[in-house]
Amino acid sequence: MVADIEETAALAVVAEIGEEGGSAEVVALDVTDEDDWIAGLDGVIERHGRLDILVNNAGTLAGDGTIEDLTVDAWRRIHGVNAEGTMLGCKHGVRVMKAGGGSIVNISSIAGIVGAPQLAAYCASKGAVRMLTKSVALHCARKGYGIRCNSVHPSYTDTPMVDRMVAAHRDPDRLRAGLEGASPLGRLGAPADVAAAVLYLASDDAAFVTGAELVVDGGVTAT
Ligand SMILES: NC(=O)c1ccc[n+]([C@@H]2O[C@H](COP(=O)([O-])OP(=O)(O)OC[C@H]3O[C@@H](n4cnc5c(N)ncnc54)[C@H](O)[C@@H]3O)[C@@H](O)[C@H]2O)c1
Repeated sequence: MVADIEETAALAVVAEIGEEGGSAEVVALDVTDEDDWIAGLDGVIERHGRLDILVNNAGTLAGDGTIEDLTVDAWRRIHGVNAEGTMLGCKHGVRVMKAGGGSIVNISSIAGIVGAPQLAAYCASKGAVRMLTKSVALHCARKGYGIRCNSVHPSYTDTPMVDRMVAAHRDPDRLRAGLEGASPLGRLGAPADVAAAVLYLASDDAAFVTGAELVVDGGVTAT
């Protein structure tokens, strides 16, 4: 199930999965809208009987700034997607998974562990995702639902989010080189690096892993 607010982008992913021999469907979802979550997840249960894995991946840093530049509107918009969207995903994910168990993976960031001066709202929202994850994990463990919940913390990863950030900079080549050089492994993360971490946490190989934070950052936070 491929869920996104941008239906065309979601359809492109579904087509790609089809070309590789898989099958997928689009779920229209604005993660900030609780009614969308209810309709989307109830639809999955009606059509497929159960939900095993939920990845809360939608995120934004648009309009962020330092604490001196940040507007309340930008703070609320960024928290709406990153923190509230993930909260709603966990809430309704647990609701539909608790009969049979499952795995919830929340995409935070290294910005949820270490600060970045120009990303005040993003850092705060990703810190919220990190601690929400632990609370959900402990609740599900205590209730015996068989649901694990973990967070993944990528550093700068080669996606459209970084492309937009680089393109908006006064010296895009310098910024891109700076982002690559910031990692001890000397490159940006690849989407596949993050996907591999998500797959591990989603799988039974991680049967005893819950409430954990998995850093995928080429060593950035080790320094
Ligand atoms: N790219 C990075 O460097 C990086 C680093 C650390 C963490 N992350 C996190 O990884 C996740 C994926 O980011 P990305 O780099 O692929 O970003 P991206 O901007 O390329 O993709 C984000 C996706 O989220 C969707 N989205 C945004 N708002 C939504 C909403 N309200 N409802 C449903 N979907 C919505 C967008 O349409 C888009 O498809 C995000 O949570 C991001 O914060 C990214």
